[in-house]
Amino acid sequence: MLTPAQLIGHRGAALLAPENTMAGIELAARLGLQWIEIDAQLSRDGVLVLMHDHELERTTDLTGTVREHDWATLAQADAGSWFGADYSGTRIPRLDAVIERCRALGLYMHIEIKPLDVHETDTAEAVADLLRSIALPEALVISSFSGDTVAAMHRLLPEHPRAQGAEHFPENWREISRSLELDAWHVDADIVTPELAPMLREAGLTVRAWTVNDRARAQQLIDWGVESVFTDDPPRLLR
Ligand code: G3P
Ligand code: MG
Repeated sequence: MLTPAQLIGHRGAALLAPENTMAGIELAARLGLQWIEIDAQLSRDGVLVLMHDHELERTTDLTGTVREHDWATLAQADAGSWFGADYSGTRIPRLDAVIERCRALGLYMHIEIKPLDVHETDTAEAVADLLRSIALPEALVISSFSGDTVAAMHRLLPEHPRAQGAEHFPENWREISRSLELDAWHVDADIVTPELAPMLREAGLTVRAWTVNDRARAQQLIDWGVESVFTDDPPRLLR
């Protein structure tokens, strides 16, 4: 039996509402989740916004990359029509507004930083500046697939919980975990073995796995010691 605490609403609840939008986050809260995950990127003029792809075409009516546009342009985009007519006019949210909303809703957050190449450090700097300047949810974990971004967060906000994202689990995980003072690894569910979580737990590390939309698979991962799974469809796993 899975519990809400073992689930993380992936990009909000990506199969049920447009990903990385306020509508998705609010739905995750209504579904009774404790945790959501969102992806953060930097606009041309230095505003952190929610978006998974670097390119805007798949989930908005704009073209080009997030990085090529100022916030004023991104703010006008339709980030919901691609998902369904009911969501027409849904906006790309700013990260600061989303953090405030999660705090008000009592939702804990995983913020995954998705920097464009060569922006690994300045994107982390923007996130650190933001986290220092606003009231945070009770629990908030920063992660990235970019080791440079996680290293920058380690330098800028050493006390803040950090996770390294990974599609392949590196042999030198002990060294990486130690040097970045990681709390957790966020790994592709396909690379989780029954041995992985116990091995990491001995080293004081937590494992979370993405992206799991099958209840039996989620239960197996939890039974193997994975702390929680990122899912696009929380009700399917809780049923
Ligand atoms: O936080 C990790 C999870 O979101 C998996 O990666 O590509 O869906 O952002 P992605
Ligand atoms: Mg993500």
